[in-house]
Amino acid sequence: MRVLSGIQPTGFPHLGNYFGMMKPSVELQNAGEAFYFIADYHSLTTSPEPQELRRRVIETATDFLACGLDVSKTVFFRQSDVPQVAELTWILNCVTPVGLLERCHSYKDKIAHGKPANNGLFSYPVLMASDILICKSTTVPVGKDQKQHVEVARDIAQRFNNQYGEILVLPSPMIRDEVAIVPGTDGQKMSKSYGNTIEIFGEEKKLRKKFMSIITDSKPVEEAKDPETCPVFALYKLFATPAQVEEMAGRFRAGGLAYGVAKQELFEMFWTQFAPLRQRRGEIAADSGYVESVLKAGGEKARAIAETTMAEVRHAVGLR
Ligand code: ADP
Ligand code: TRP
Repeated sequence: MRVLSGIQPTGFPHLGNYFGMMKPSVELQNAGEAFYFIADYHSLTTSPEPQELRRRVIETATDFLACGLDVSKTVFFRQSDVPQVAELTWILNCVTPVGLLERCHSYKDKIAHGKPANNGLFSYPVLMASDILICKSTTVPVGKDQKQHVEVARDIAQRFNNQYGEILVLPSPMIRDEVAIVPGTDGQKMSKSYGNTIEIFGEEKKLRKKFMSIITDSKPVEEAKDPETCPVFALYKLFATPAQVEEMAGRFRAGGLAYGVAKQELFEMFWTQFAPLRQRRGEIAADSGYVESVLKAGGEKARAIAETTMAEVRHAVGLR
């Protein structure tokens, strides 16, 4: 098994990123070869300020390391340190039907939310396919929103192989049902693009406020409440033991539980469970130059693998 996943360095990692992608990735580092990267080429689709992008790459890498990435077990790198990815993207663009990209939900969602549509945003699944295929990855841990993109990568690999021979490996997404879609403070999918995130690192007061702002219905304290439709409960499930989840569900259904109290308890769980990660983050950030050196070393390893794939691909398609 060769595991690969990426995270964009735009915005601050939130609970959706953590439970959907970062935590599963950290757990998979013991299960096979693992490649994780900071997707800075992808971020260009939203035109970030250049200085800010460079800074966010290091910050996001620091966050990921604080979540438990072990660089002795994984290849951890910056996407743009492997420019072969951009070269493969072009070649894959030429075997990708436009209709395949037109069907992608993520693009349609972003447009529906009023994001300007550049061609990068439209063809971004091809860049993502290139990330996955250049490392010959078999397994891609992601949240449910990325499932379709991994399927597109698989489809593109199949088309390439049909045309040029069996060179690329067909990947599969790995999605955990229990964390497939983490809700945001407004009850919709938590996403940096939707302004409903709860960041995993940050100032206590600010984060507490975010938890307190999670949307609920307006049922009074004494009334019985449905845990299954409440985002506070959905988030609580991510932190609590099965016994605690059962107990909280009971308190919802019995009535007498104020949403504010449930939110406080949820916040306390989050704050306690993330204490060791915050500590580690502080230590990593204090070691100036460490993160850059980790990314640089990872980039060298990833580049060597990418170059091997590219040599095969260039030859197969008739370049050089
Ligand atoms: P965002 O939607 O906030 O821009 P990204 O697209 O950068 O997040 O996602 C990075 C990773 O985190 C992806 O694997 C994605 O599937 C996962 N992820 C993002 N939001 C959620 C969520 N709300 N629930 C589960 N996984 C998520
Ligand atoms: N598109 C992913 C996201 O926005 C990030 C990403 C880029 C990725 N390349 C990837 C994830 C390759 C998995 C594999 O979340």
